[in-house]
Amino acid sequence: MLNIEHFESLSLDGTWRFQLLRSPKDQPGKRWSSIPVPGLWTMQPDSFDKPIYTNVQMPWDHVAPEVPDENPTGIYERDFEIPQSWDDKRIVLHLGGYESVALVSVNGDEVGLTKDSRLAAEFDITSFIKHGKNVVRISVTKWSDATYIEDQDQWWHGGITRSVKLYATDYVYIEKFATTAGLKSDGTTGTLKVDAIIGSINGKSVEGYSLRTSIEELPKVKSAQLSGTYKSHKTPLWTEMSAELQEANRKHFAGEYWDGSMPESAKRLREPLQSPWPGHIVLETTIPKVSAWSAEKPSLYTLRIELVSPTGHVVEVSQQKIGFRSVIVKGRDLLVNGQRVFIYGVNRHDFNRHTGRVLTREDMRQDLLEMKRWNFNAVRTSHYPNDAAFLELCDELGFYVIDEANIESHAFYDSISNDPRYGSAFVERVGRMVQRDMHHPSVIFWSLGNESGIGKNHYAAAAFARSLDPSRPLHYEGAINGDWRGGHVLTDVICPMYPSIKAIVSHAKSGKQDRPLIMCEYSHAMGNSNGTLKEYWDAIHSLPGLQGGFIWEFWDHGIEQTLADGSKRSAYGGDFGETRHDGNFVCDGMVFPDRTPKPAMHEFKALAAPVAFSTTKAGSGSFTITNRQFFKDLTDFGCTWNITRDGQVIDSGTIKLPKIAPRKSAKIRITSKFLTKIDGPGERFVNFSVFNLHRTDWAPAGYEVAWSQFALTSRKLSLPSAKTSELFEVAVNDAGELQLPFGVIAPQPTLWRAPTDNDRIAHFADTWEQYGVRDLERIDCMITESAKSYKVTSLWQTSTGFKIKQVQVVTPIANGYSVKETISTPKQFSDLARVGINFEIDGSLSQFTYLGIGPNETYPDRKIGRVGKWSSSVFEQYIPYVRPQENGGHAGVRWFTLTDTSGHGIRIDLDKPRQVSVNPFRATELADATHDVELRPTGNTVVTIDAAHRGLGTASCGPDTLAQYLVSGGTYSFTWSVRAI
Ligand code: GAL
Ligand code: MG
Repeated sequence: MLNIEHFESLSLDGTWRFQLLRSPKDQPGKRWSSIPVPGLWTMQPDSFDKPIYTNVQMPWDHVAPEVPDENPTGIYERDFEIPQSWDDKRIVLHLGGYESVALVSVNGDEVGLTKDSRLAAEFDITSFIKHGKNVVRISVTKWSDATYIEDQDQWWHGGITRSVKLYATDYVYIEKFATTAGLKSDGTTGTLKVDAIIGSINGKSVEGYSLRTSIEELPKVKSAQLSGTYKSHKTPLWTEMSAELQEANRKHFAGEYWDGSMPESAKRLREPLQSPWPGHIVLETTIPKVSAWSAEKPSLYTLRIELVSPTGHVVEVSQQKIGFRSVIVKGRDLLVNGQRVFIYGVNRHDFNRHTGRVLTREDMRQDLLEMKRWNFNAVRTSHYPNDAAFLELCDELGFYVIDEANIESHAFYDSISNDPRYGSAFVERVGRMVQRDMHHPSVIFWSLGNESGIGKNHYAAAAFARSLDPSRPLHYEGAINGDWRGGHVLTDVICPMYPSIKAIVSHAKSGKQDRPLIMCEYSHAMGNSNGTLKEYWDAIHSLPGLQGGFIWEFWDHGIEQTLADGSKRSAYGGDFGETRHDGNFVCDGMVFPDRTPKPAMHEFKALAAPVAFSTTKAGSGSFTITNRQFFKDLTDFGCTWNITRDGQVIDSGTIKLPKIAPRKSAKIRITSKFLTKIDGPGERFVNFSVFNLHRTDWAPAGYEVAWSQFALTSRKLSLPSAKTSELFEVAVNDAGELQLPFGVIAPQPTLWRAPTDNDRIAHFADTWEQYGVRDLERIDCMITESAKSYKVTSLWQTSTGFKIKQVQVVTPIANGYSVKETISTPKQFSDLARVGINFEIDGSLSQFTYLGIGPNETYPDRKIGRVGKWSSSVFEQYIPYVRPQENGGHAGVRWFTLTDTSGHGIRIDLDKPRQVSVNPFRATELADATHDVELRPTGNTVVTIDAAHRGLGTASCGPDTLAQYLVSGGTYSFTWSVRAI
């Protein structure tokens, strides 16, 4: 069985012989090349068959279950030898994963065919094996009827994706071992149920065999010997039945025991009539004083299983990690060990930019460690069961998992789930997943798949899952799609995708929620995105029935592609020459294709932080600290604080965190004269930082897990006034252009940004095109000069003829000048990217320092960060979204400097905190490039200062930003001041 660890095994991974045919009907020739196993032929550089990316639509025009004649088929072949010790053993070939159908033959004989591509298939090849050299051939055909239920939004590949191995057992062996470990409401009593089957081949009897189980970490718990296996059985002939048995039987069928009152004696009499189930064993037991498993404290135990022969010999040994925990849906709450935990989840596909979908255990581990670093506690295995190793890692590291069946018929959304020809595939895919993964404590929901409508096949699969594992709730989005009140048979959770905040709030306040609401997908992370994440979590943290969700998604699936000139890029749909594709929609994750985090991660990390601070008055030094964890106190964490003024630390200290129980708060106090004493101008803050005291699997000691910042009373920075200055004298040239030190292109209004993926896909960028705001041309300019100021009044025209009025009033300050900008745009501009100014200065000013929210990229609807003084090179400001777009912005900037290596340059102060960006690339260059690597620095530094900037939202697949983050037409005024430094 798939979830039994076999100690006697032989890996067949490595280099195999290979041929790629154009159709399964073609005959393999004599010429072989080679390929790694596991390995996809679509990822081999010389393959004629390349990756294809489509989202909903199939990559060709056929109707289920028909597939194209041209159907790449890879012939994988290798020799192997069986160890001598395996003589007289049952030998099984285990094929971990393949796309999409595999035909297995051994020594020229066909052994079997398999189509459930993301769960292993096992073939008993005992009778096919010879002494000495054997040959295994796995013919993998890319398209099949099954392809229609594997229409997940990701790359289409072909080949073997997971490991191939052989294992050996005796002729009598452990066939099935289904374990359910639970936890009683006292929180310490574990329950254990094992449903096992001892199997046999070659006519061997299982009689007298037994299973012995023990828990390694609990040696005192008596090991259970599960025997009572099949005894020779003969159902009595009808004519042989005793009068008593006949009587018991008659009463049974006549319904006389309808109230369950059949006496024990009658039950015993009827026992010989039970049908035989050779080798079937059930064990149920309770175990006192266990340590419960949760994502926060993933306590695991090792269940050891021994198959014992009638003569007392141990003939097979295996083990499973188990964890005692309870998962129930009670009313509108999902309770893990009785606690209404929050699900800080992310959807994850199997992805590796070099190997496609072939992953090592280490790849999977690194994904999970990365999630841990950002405070994620849950994963949905969108949209298919992952390698069993993935769940082992989730058990070990601590994640709640929605385990999803490999079923998505998106292109045939409503039909296939009702098509009986696919019925058994639905049942089998769900059923095999449940049976393989039952013993994993991390799995808290079974998911019936994704985006396949709602149909009869789902009902069959759901019934099978519920009967195989009554201990876990079901998840299926299709069941509540369009009506969150329905679908109870198929889902125990309301699991919408991309609901608006308004919808989840109104649902939560309706008083009518009958199940928990956990979004299976939300906050589409495509490009520069994840706006309003905070508003989602404000709702979830405060309203009943809302328990979290899974961000879409973890990965940007950009495949590393080597171009003709040897350079590399992250490839997306269309880049391998496919004509039907969905472009860069495959790059929509929280991490870039090399697993480096996108800036939005910082937003999420803060929202999911395990510790929170609050105060009614920061200057009092008294704060409330809250433990937001459900199962742990704060002993793992340390805490430091500091006070800053204008970004400079003026006092600091450490706090010994009090022992606070889960979900509880306590008061803490810091003492510093600077809490109230203002020692100079500049904004003042008190900052807390909470960090791991000890090294964990995912982070070193000292790694910050939470922070908080509170404003203290401050004295404003003031600009040094002056009657005139050198810069002021030459501030405006004859053409009415402002002259900046190191200036290359003078400040001009800007109403546009390089469209983000959200802007482009949701057509906001089309609106901007109609406004013509990408290119502004100055058509009139008037300069009025007085002793104390210049006033430059300009009229700008968009490329489609709209007029923009700009008035700049320039006044002197010491070493520079101030500019009051007033920009008036037509009222019919209902949705603008921004209203601001933009200029370019010499690229030699390559160092950027600012006081504002940072240090990461932030936007008005994704701006959690600390006000501080942050520095980087200009180039580091650029965020390499796979398809270039607006990037590198900073919310809440008070002032910034751009300097060269000797510290000379300019300083700009703003009248109030504003959105600023500094970038080596122009917005037009970003917009015109299709891949990050196409961008070539022009040598200038591009600076943008905004009076208003549109939020990011998530509209590439979900709601846009909220109304308060939109920018409409009208008049905007703001002041900026420049000084030479
Ligand atoms: C969902 C779907 C995902 C993915 C996402 C968009 O509808 O379940 O598989 O397509 O949208 O990126
Ligand atoms: Mg889909």
